[in-house]
Amino acid sequence: MRSHPFPALAPAPLLLLLLMLSLVLAATVLSSCTPSQPGVRRKGEADATVGRTLFLKNCAHCHGADARGDEGPDLHGLDWTDEQITARIRNGKKGQMTAFADKLSAEQIHRIEDYLRTLK
Ligand code: HEC
Repeated sequence: MRSHPFPALAPAPLLLLLLMLSLVLAATVLSSCTPSQPGVRRKGEADATVGRTLFLKNCAHCHGADARGDEGPDLHGLDWTDEQITARIRNGKKGQMTAFADKLSAEQIHRIEDYLRTLK
């Protein structure tokens, strides 16, 4: 007269646990794909594309949509270091170029630099 030879494992909490585990796993995999290392300089095409979009939005009205120069100079073949370019974008130049320190994040400025580096 054994009605339950094996005590049923409660399936709901187990499934929930599995679901949570797979979500955590998915989140880990996804986050390792996003560029979250601003110190690591890679000229990834995707980064440059993001940078180009930011450039068109913030810089093109002075430097031209193709960065060939307009009110501001041509930005092709810049021989500035990354630090110099970052400083210029952050601080601008009085009376000539907007300062972007409050408008763009460090990450966004890096992406714009990635784009500028593609301009030979
Ligand atoms: C209001 C117009 C304006 C905007 C907006 C602007 N710039 Fe400029 N930029 C200038 C001018 C003018 C100069 C030249 C200043 C000088 O003589 O040093 C310049 C110089 C520069 C230089 C130095 C290049 C060189 O050879 O002297 C860089 C790099 C640069 N800009 C990048 C950017 C980026 C990136 C953005 C967008 C985030 C941007 N600028 C937005 C007007 C602008």
